Amino acid sequence: MLNEIAEQLKNTGYIVLRLPLPQALMQALPERCHDDGRFLPARVGRGENKQQITALRGDVISWLDEENVIDRAYLAWMDELRAGLNERLFLGLFDYECHYAIYQPGTAYAVHLDALKGKKNRIISTVLYLNQDWQSDDGGELLLYEPDNKDLLTTVVPEFGTMIIFLSEVFPHEVNLSRSTRRSITGWFRVN
Ligand code: OGA
Ligand code: MN
Repeated sequence: MLNEIAEQLKNTGYIVLRLPLPQALMQALPERCHDDGRFLPARVGRGENKQQITALRGDVISWLDEENVIDRAYLAWMDELRAGLNERLFLGLFDYECHYAIYQPGTAYAVHLDALKGKKNRIISTVLYLNQDWQSDDGGELLLYEPDNKDLLTTVVPEFGTMIIFLSEVFPHEVNLSRSTRRSITGWFRVN
């Protein structure tokens, strides 16, 4: 699987995987993505410009916790992916940061890039979806666009176990309005 991921990242810049994670881990993750007070509104921008603009971005987030055994298992799996990509693509990925995200019905995330070119921090984005029984009219699709002409490249339904991996600086993307509670883990491999 690592070879396939590396190849496709090199050739097209993104890949959509069905159920890449071990089943036991996949079964354990959703219970960590329920709002028991750990979740805070996501913010847009950096530093002083950091603002909470619900119209642009409506999710609430909770960063993974090294102290939690389930979170640790996910972070360990992603760290193997990081090492495997470094071996194959010489990216020098240094670490991985990630958070759970919950989009309540009626929320979305407008078109954006995860990293600004030149800032060289977030290199590869990952999103793993945790939604059992997602219906076609639940919305909440991830739309990934061509960098140059903004043509739609792919539509990802946020179904349980699907993971997308894409180059953070390259692809504008957005989250369609969700009509159901939408759960995911979003993360970024970074360079130092
Ligand atoms: C993000 C993001 C996409 C998704 O959190 O930056 O683009 O499908 N998420 O949840
Ligand atoms: Mn994004």
